[in-house]
Amino acid sequence: MTRGTRTHRRARWAGIAALASLLGACRDTLPQSTLNPAGPQAEQINDLFFPVFWIAAGVFVFVEGAIVFAAFRYRASKARDANPVQTHGNAKLEVLWTVIPTIILAVITVPTIGTIFDLAREPVGDDVVHVRVVGHQWWWEFQYEDLGVVTANELHIPVDRPVYLTLTSAEPPLSGSDINAIPVIHSLWVPRLGGKQDVIPGRENYMTLEASQPGEYLGQCAEFCGLSHSLMQFRVIAEDDGAFDDWVAKMKAPAATPPPGSLEEEGFELFSGGTCIGCHVINGVEGQGRVGPDLSRFGLRTTLGAGSFENTPAELARWLDDPRKMKPGVVMPDYDLTEDQIKALVAYLRSLK
Ligand code: CUA
Repeated sequence: MTRGTRTHRRARWAGIAALASLLGACRDTLPQSTLNPAGPQAEQINDLFFPVFWIAAGVFVFVEGAIVFAAFRYRASKARDANPVQTHGNAKLEVLWTVIPTIILAVITVPTIGTIFDLAREPVGDDVVHVRVVGHQWWWEFQYEDLGVVTANELHIPVDRPVYLTLTSAEPPLSGSDINAIPVIHSLWVPRLGGKQDVIPGRENYMTLEASQPGEYLGQCAEFCGLSHSLMQFRVIAEDDGAFDDWVAKMKAPAATPPPGSLEEEGFELFSGGTCIGCHVINGVEGQGRVGPDLSRFGLRTTLGAGSFENTPAELARWLDDPRKMKPGVVMPDYDLTEDQIKALVAYLRSLK
C-alpha cells in the first residue's frame, strides 16, 4: 500500500467517524435536544424545523448531485473535442433557476413568519406566570414579581401554564477595572421548551415557555459572556399546580432560626455576622445585600454554581473553600474559611428547606 492510499483511507475513516458523531448528537433522547420538544412553543419550532430541513436537504442533494454529475460526465478526456463550442447565456435556464428558488423561499417564508409572530405574542389570561429573568456573570436570577418570590438558577414553573419571561442583563455589581464590571449579553435557552432569546443590558426582551409534562429541563446560556459562560447553566423544574403552589408558599415563608447550640446556628451566626450577608439574601434574615444569588430555601436546590455542580455537602464545602477553583472568574472570592467554619455554613445552608 502506498503512503497516498493509506492517507486517503485514514481521511475517509476520520470523515465517517466525524459524520457518525454528528448524527449521534442529533438523537432526540438527549436532555437538551430540540428534537424532543416538551411544550407547545418548542413543538411549534420543531414543526417548522422539519419541513424547512427536508426542503433544504432536497436542494442540497439536487445541487451537489448536479455538480458531481457534471464534473464526471464532462471531465476532460481524449475522446472529447479540446475546443468545445462557446456559448453565452441561456434565457430559459436563467428564468428557471430564478423562479424555482423564489417559489421555494416563498413556501418557507409563510410558515416561518407565522411562527415568529405566534411565538412573540404575549399570552393573556389568569393562568399566565410572569417571571423577570436577570442574567448575571454567570448565573440566572428569577423574580416572580406577582408572587413575591426571588430565586436563582432553578426556575420552578407549573405545567400547562404559559410562563412569560421578561429578560434583561444585570448592571455589574463591581466597579473599577474588574473584568466582571463589563455588562454583557447572555442568551436564555431551554432547548426542550423553546427557542433562544438574547438577554441584553439596559433592554428588555420577552419570551414564552410552557411545559406539558412535569420534569426537569436543562437550560444553558447560549451567548458567549466571559470566562465561565459554559458554566452558566440552569434548570426549569415543571411541576403540577399543587407542587408549584407548595414551593411558592415555602419560598415566601421566612427562614426559621436554627435551634440554639446547633451546628446550623453556628452557620447562621457566621452567615449573618460575616461577609456572606453583604451579597446574599435569605428570606427572613435581616440586613442583606443583593449581589450574589438569593439563597432562600437553598436546601431545596438540586444544584449549585449555576447548575454546574450537584448540591451535596461535599460540593458545597468545596465551593465555600474556593469558589474560583470551581467556577473561574466568579465574583465570589475565596474567604479563607476554616474547615470548621465551612462545616457550619454547609449545615446551615442545607437546612434551608
Ligand atoms: Cu451568560 Cu454565556
